[in-house]
Amino acid sequence: APERKVAVLGAAGGIGQTLSLLMKMSPSVTKLSLYDIVNTPGVAADCSHVNTGAQVTGHVGQEQLGDALKGCDVVVIPAGVPRKPGMTRDDLFAINAGIVAGLVEGVAKNCPEALITMISNPVNSTVPIAAEVLKKHGVYNPKKLFGVTTLDVVRAKTFYAEKNGFDVNTVDVPVVGGHAGITILPLFSQATPSATMSDEVLDALTKRTQNGGTEVVEAKAGKGSATLSMAYAGALFADAALRGLNGVQDVVECTYVESSITEVPFFSSKVKLGPEGVSEIYGLGDLTDYESDALKAMMPELEASIEKGVNFVKNM
Ligand code: APR
Repeated sequence: APERKVAVLGAAGGIGQTLSLLMKMSPSVTKLSLYDIVNTPGVAADCSHVNTGAQVTGHVGQEQLGDALKGCDVVVIPAGVPRKPGMTRDDLFAINAGIVAGLVEGVAKNCPEALITMISNPVNSTVPIAAEVLKKHGVYNPKKLFGVTTLDVVRAKTFYAEKNGFDVNTVDVPVVGGHAGITILPLFSQATPSATMSDEVLDALTKRTQNGGTEVVEAKAGKGSATLSMAYAGALFADAALRGLNGVQDVVECTYVESSITEVPFFSSKVKLGPEGVSEIYGLGDLTDYESDALKAMMPELEASIEKGVNFVKNM
């Protein structure tokens, strides 16, 4: 496999540390660059002792961002503040928008060709923010910017398998839309293996998937949001992106990208990943009435979140 450098920005955080370990264990990664504004020397030293191939470097503070990013193929961004009980992903907006804009500016200057996988919430807005920042620097490539919605897929698979008594390893559920509340739409009618579920069960599974993040926020009772499952999902997606870069055939994942399959400019659906990033965006297939209604219902919120991101950069 070719040399591949991956950077984790926000590597000392709850998501970032676990994600760093998972990327250290990835056979596709040859260089792993860990960046944060605090504590990265310790995280990098710790991670570097794991006896896998990836060479780990730690970079701390703004003045080391350039070194962290130079030569990167994939940049994973989990930097930001996590959600506390009572906060929505949108409440995070003001803080995380500025953090993301600064980091993406670093990408534009140091590794404009890299794939960016965005984890920092609210993803519905932070991806459009990243797009606008990259445009300002004249380096935006819509095929290379992704919002990580993999955790929604992971949750939908877990809950669907559990409810129907399926082996979770054999289950697939496409999840479309965005990455917050009602903008998350699992398409259980297209899940495999298929299952017949009552309207009540279907509605409960849909809502549990949409509120999965809140379930964790409440269980953590003031100590943050999902970290282990989010890091797992972030590593799954980064690995898929790397397999695509390396020309492995048929890498297909649900992810939030610039898209024209609905009326909003960013949307998550199944996409094919190739050597240049996105190589194909798949349509939604046949939707049930329940799914069509849910799709219609999410649009105003998704559109507003996208506009909020775009306007944040325009007013910077
Ligand atoms: N550059 C780099 N790292 C930063 C910056 C910045 N400008 N600002 C903050 N960080 C780092 C923090 O120092 C911390 O190490 O981001 C990390 C965030 O870690 P946690 O506070 O533990 O938060 P976490 O639970 O990992 O969530 C981070 O991911 O899913 C989203 O909603 C979540 O937006 C939140 C983010």
